[in-house]
Amino acid sequence: MMHLIQKKGTLGIRGHAVLYVLIGLLVSGASSQAADTPEQEVSSLKLKLNLLMNRYSLLCNRLSNLATNCSAPAINCTVCPEGWLHIEDQCFFLSTDRDDYFNSTNKCTEIGAHLAILTTKEQHDVLEQEGKRIGGMYTYYWIGLSDIDNEGDWKWVDSSKLKTPSWDVLKSEPDNNLSGGLDGEDCAVVHSYTQTWYDVPCSFTYPRICQMDALRLQ
Ligand SMILES: *[C@@H]1O[C@H](CO)[C@@H](O)[C@H](O)[C@H]1NC(C)=O
Ligand SMILES: *[C@@H]1O[C@H](CO)[C@@H](O)[C@H](O)[C@H]1NC(C)=O
Ligand SMILES: *[C@@H]1O[C@H](CO)[C@@H](O)[C@H](O)[C@H]1NC(C)=O
Ligand SMILES: *[C@@H]1O[C@H](CO)[C@@H](O)[C@H](O)[C@H]1NC(C)=O
Repeated sequence: MMHLIQKKGTLGIRGHAVLYVLIGLLVSGASSQAADTPEQEVSSLKLKLNLLMNRYSLLCNRLSNLATNCSAPAINCTVCPEGWLHIEDQCFFLSTDRDDYFNSTNKCTEIGAHLAILTTKEQHDVLEQEGKRIGGMYTYYWIGLSDIDNEGDWKWVDSSKLKTPSWDVLKSEPDNNLSGGLDGEDCAVVHSYTQTWYDVPCSFTYPRICQMDALRLQ
């Protein structure tokens, strides 16, 4: 707080913008009504998310304008973070380090993302290109799909059901093969070159694909 007050003179506009966002968040949190049904809660949250994204977009534009008048290095607001792929209305990131499924889940969460939910051909096409561009030793990547809770009931990380599967059916995937351990294979990877999925033991290590919503910037 001292920091903000001391710098108010020089960073007035930016400081205010940040404060408005904070106050907005606090107010919207405090005034939220208890929803009667889950559907109402979802639509209320969607509305709030939309408002927040619009506000973010406005602030981004103001920040960009401000930055052009400053000698400080310009901060660009982009729909996806630098180095991420923009596919449809989503951003994707292919890691080069490997980890098990749970750590990979956390590593995506730590950067405000989640393991990828792949639902379209377009996503697979672009990820295939990117996988080839990166090259490297690995072609299998974690995606946010598992049947940990209930064998054979594959769910995405947002709890949504699997509607458009892309299993490698020629190799009888998913086969819950027990050769990797008695827990079987409860987590899924995408083979970036063939665009098909395999179930593998969650304790194996692979690089990951993280995903987040692209920002709408007008
Ligand atoms: C940036 O400078 C231009 C020209 O001096 C001015 O018209 C504009 O309002 C300034 N923008 C901000 C955000 O201060
Ligand atoms: C911001 O975008 C402009 C125009 O695309 C570019 O020239 C500049 O290098 C970018 N700045 C940063 C910090 O990325
Ligand atoms: C997962 O993360 C934990 C905590 O950082 C670490 O101890 C463990 O070795 C990691 N697992 C793998 C497979 O690297
Ligand atoms: C399980 O994997 C092992 C090793 O890859 C393989 O030899 C075996 O045929 C597989 N079993 C099934 C049922 O696919």
